[in-house]
Amino acid sequence: MQSLQQLLEFDRLHVWHPYAAMPNLLPVFPVESAQGIHIQLMDGRSLVDGISSWWTCIHGYNHPRLNQAAHAQIDRMSHMMFGGLTHQPAVDLTMKLIAITPAALQQVFFCDSGSVAVEVAMKMAVQYWYNRGLPQKQGFLTIRNGYHGDTFAAMSVCDPINGMHHLFRNILAQQYFAAAPQIKFDQDWQKQDIESFATLLAKHHDHIAAAILEPVVQNAGGMRFYHPEYVRQAKALCEKYHVLLILDEIATGFGRTGKMFACEYAEVCPDILCVGKALSGGFISLAATLTTQEISASFATDEAGVFMHGPTFMANPLACAVSLENLALLESYDWQSKIRSIESQLKAELEPCRSLAAVKDVRVLGAIGVVELHNLVNMQTIQPRFVEEGVWLRPFGHLIYTMPPYIIEPSELQAITAAIYRVVAEI
Ligand SMILES: Cc1ncc(COP(=O)(O)O)c(C=O)c1O
Repeated sequence: MQSLQQLLEFDRLHVWHPYAAMPNLLPVFPVESAQGIHIQLMDGRSLVDGISSWWTCIHGYNHPRLNQAAHAQIDRMSHMMFGGLTHQPAVDLTMKLIAITPAALQQVFFCDSGSVAVEVAMKMAVQYWYNRGLPQKQGFLTIRNGYHGDTFAAMSVCDPINGMHHLFRNILAQQYFAAAPQIKFDQDWQKQDIESFATLLAKHHDHIAAAILEPVVQNAGGMRFYHPEYVRQAKALCEKYHVLLILDEIATGFGRTGKMFACEYAEVCPDILCVGKALSGGFISLAATLTTQEISASFATDEAGVFMHGPTFMANPLACAVSLENLALLESYDWQSKIRSIESQLKAELEPCRSLAAVKDVRVLGAIGVVELHNLVNMQTIQPRFVEEGVWLRPFGHLIYTMPPYIIEPSELQAITAAIYRVVAEI
């Protein structure tokens, strides 16, 4: 039998990990199983999960209700092609998504990952204007510090520096980048924050199909919380200049910020909405792009033709059935209070980090707690330190952050915040 050491050595040489070199230079920890908010390592250690498997596993691992929904669906069919066929899980999940998202969103396109949901949104926007007789509207406006995924179209609207656009200069579409919003979530709004966005839109709207934003929280591009008024103003400007608004709620959707969708802080309904990650409760990959009757109707004429997209695993019944159960689970308890109590605890317990020499800023919104450092974290040393502390966190850039499962208990959250304080104090 392979020893743990042999497994790790084979992994290091042959298994490519996210954002990693080959052979892998960074430590990797082998997982045996996971239960609730605990990750059991193969070496016997148990970790409290502080980032919900990249913000997906909102109800923890191995949840009996999600397992039960999966078993029931597997016994009927785990997969079925979606071309020319449909099924109950897809129809039911569509109904649920229509019910919980802003009212004008009535059409749902399912796909397998967040990046693809963004690709779909961007293609939909371009093809909408083509259908309307404006084929020159093919560009996109976005803001710096954004992150929308790793496929080429999604990458083209990620922050050009974080996204290493220089490496892909000749293949990546050139988009329009407004300055990142500076007014924070709870500061007084100042209208000059949106000036750069407004100027670009005024100048280039003839060539812009849509603006794309992560509303209120910029996630992997810097964990920045900005003012909801920015989103409201962006929507008004998009309407004025006949440009669509795509909101990417792949990270913020399904309660993470304290609202079901972060766009509710701005009371804005986008033309196109992308969701993913927590949709299936981290059980299995599923994402969706929602749009309005007005946009979908533009595809209904013979001249326009069909929407040119159709992934093989689109609307996978197993993923739809589990997602439906995950959303039923979310609605079965007072998740708003739970997020509020996580928020207050994070605020109280991360605040002391502010006095540490290495720390530049501490910020919390909903179930997102961020400690921003002056210098880049050293992944080689910091990751094993958190494991020694018995918690699983995945810092990046200058950021140490937690986005725990909503089911976390106060004592477990305290273990995470205490570990963050201790580890940052050593830097
Ligand atoms: C806002 C946002 N959009 C898109 C994506 C890409 O999703 P995926 O990794 O499922 O392709 C992410 C992933 O972190 C994200 O945070």
